[in-house]
Amino acid sequence: MTDTVRAQYEAFPYPERKPTDERKRLITGSPSLPVEMDHWLWGGARDWSQPLRALVAGGGTGDALIQLAQKLADAERPFDITYLDLSQASRRIAEKRAEVRSLRNITFVTGSLLDAANYGPFDYIDCCGVLHHLPEPQAGFDALAGALAPDGGIGLMVYAPHGRAGVYPLQDAFNTVLKDLTPEKQLKRAKRIFDRLPEAHPFKRNMRLVDHRNGDAGFYDLLLHSQDRPFTITDLVHALNAAGLDYAGSPEPMLYDPTPLVDDIPDMDVCALMQLAEDLRGTFKTHVAYARPKGRVMSPPLGEPDAVPHFRDIDAGALAGHVANGQGITVDTAGETFSFDIPADAATLIKRVDGRRALAEIAPSQSDRAVWSQVEAALCGAGMMHYSRLM
Ligand SMILES: C[S@@+](CC[C@H](N)C(=O)[O-])C[C@H]1O[C@@H](n2cnc3c(N)ncnc32)[C@H](O)[C@@H]1O
Repeated sequence: MTDTVRAQYEAFPYPERKPTDERKRLITGSPSLPVEMDHWLWGGARDWSQPLRALVAGGGTGDALIQLAQKLADAERPFDITYLDLSQASRRIAEKRAEVRSLRNITFVTGSLLDAANYGPFDYIDCCGVLHHLPEPQAGFDALAGALAPDGGIGLMVYAPHGRAGVYPLQDAFNTVLKDLTPEKQLKRAKRIFDRLPEAHPFKRNMRLVDHRNGDAGFYDLLLHSQDRPFTITDLVHALNAAGLDYAGSPEPMLYDPTPLVDDIPDMDVCALMQLAEDLRGTFKTHVAYARPKGRVMSPPLGEPDAVPHFRDIDAGALAGHVANGQGITVDTAGETFSFDIPADAATLIKRVDGRRALAEIAPSQSDRAVWSQVEAALCGAGMMHYSRLM
């Protein structure tokens, strides 16, 4: 991390969080939801009675740390999490949030993720919104891979170029005129300039960008960052491979499927297909992905009798009612609407999903399984259902 980037995160810990808000809500997201991790990294079959040794690398003000620790504590599963970040101001906020929630078994370290191996090995590493800010991102991928246990996995997020249209020319321009000022002065001056930009500026036209409206830290992180390099999905897969890792999947795999957009796609490998989807959709601001050591990727246990499904943020009864009325499933994500036809008789199966029952019990007959496969294609594709034996 350069001194400039460090100064930014000391002045504007990111994201802006108030520790006392932990009393009223839990912030959740991908990656690093335990059932989602299990689905993509361990074939939905991790033995959660074994403690999860996890690293949150570049943990910032603590979103992933708090989510992971709270979800495991709620499930009464053992864990040992190391939080690592260069910014002391961010660490203080993350510590306070953990304290408000009385979360234990967390070690806070102020240091660089390039030294991650010194604190490992880890079964799981979260690294969200960090690698694209390193002077040499590949060194970061390599360091995380080197801190992973042989059976471990990584959940990460890096910026993607197309959905950030308009950001990079502004970052360059602000950097040119403001780089010698303190972070606080840069922010003040940049906001004045921003207000004078024409409404037709690609940034102002980009409906997908909102962070600059979410407080000073958001504005700074989006528009004043001095080190920010986006990755296409191809760049990401190459960086993972160069670090000895394989891409294991993304939380919303349907976004990376170009087939609804193009007829007669020529033969191409999986990465090229995902790149085609990214280029055609044009909306991705980030890539969230899971990765495992080369040769160890396990597929999600789709349709397997002993797999245990969990819904994400869905009430099984409400969804069953919706499906029983023949309304199918509609998902709005990344600026797009995806619709799935689900047979009304799937409602009975959906109602049985409680995070404990396995498919053998939920969909016992051959015809049930045929119906279930449509539910699975829709909900797993949209990242709304995962297989795990967490409970
Ligand atoms: C954009 S914030 C993301 C914070 C958090 N991961 C999240 O998603 O909410 C980037 C964080 O990475 C940290 N960081 C940057 N380079 C680092 C490095 N080499 N080692 C550890 N932390 C680093 C910064 O201090 C900052 O807190």
